[in-house]
Amino acid sequence: MKITYHGQSTILIETNGKSLIIDPFISGNAGAKVKVEDIKVEAVLLTHAHADHILDAAPISKANNAPVVSNPELAAYMSWQGVETIGMNIGGTLDLDFAKAKMTHAFHSSGIIDEENKNILYGGMPSGFIIEAEGKTILHAGDTGLFGDMKMIGARHDIDIAFLPIGDHYTMGPEDAVQAAEWYKAKLIIPIHYNTFPVIEQDGEAFVKALEERGLKGKVLQLGESMEL
Ligand code: NI
Ligand code: MN
Repeated sequence: MKITYHGQSTILIETNGKSLIIDPFISGNAGAKVKVEDIKVEAVLLTHAHADHILDAAPISKANNAPVVSNPELAAYMSWQGVETIGMNIGGTLDLDFAKAKMTHAFHSSGIIDEENKNILYGGMPSGFIIEAEGKTILHAGDTGLFGDMKMIGARHDIDIAFLPIGDHYTMGPEDAVQAAEWYKAKLIIPIHYNTFPVIEQDGEAFVKALEERGLKGKVLQLGESMEL
């Protein structure tokens, strides 16, 4: 399995000869090392409706004939942009044939702000995903603050890699993310959702050090960097 970080919360997973992408935000990220048109996937998973997670979902979905997988409200919104969608909800598992995706909870919001009409569209509940393939388990926490049921998720899933937001301001910051890592009991923690904008600037290496001080293992992935699992 090959995993590539494309910045913000964008994770590409290649497994069993196919690929999926979670929260594609590439064209809006000045630091991105890949072009939207170079993304080849069989599915596009969205954790919630905020622009820094869904910006490139429709073009990637259309170009690849790949369904968008999200909560039902966001799926409806995406379908109005002419893409194929699969709506699911928290607690459910979707079998994509090459990987399984379980939708798990996140403490955040998920509205779509329509500035022009001064309207806020309900974007469904925010979520995370637990991806299982090749006997491995990967958690993408989505955007979230710290919550106690991370402990329950860690107890019920043997997580190999957890992608956790550390940017603070919109999500948990590094200190809470260390606690989250402890509760998820992941074998490896990779920080996401930081350094894309000034308000979420964080030191990824300092976060990895803080994890090590608690006996946990972390790793910073640079934008465009891949790893094997
Ligand atoms: Ni968000
Ligand atoms: Mn976000």
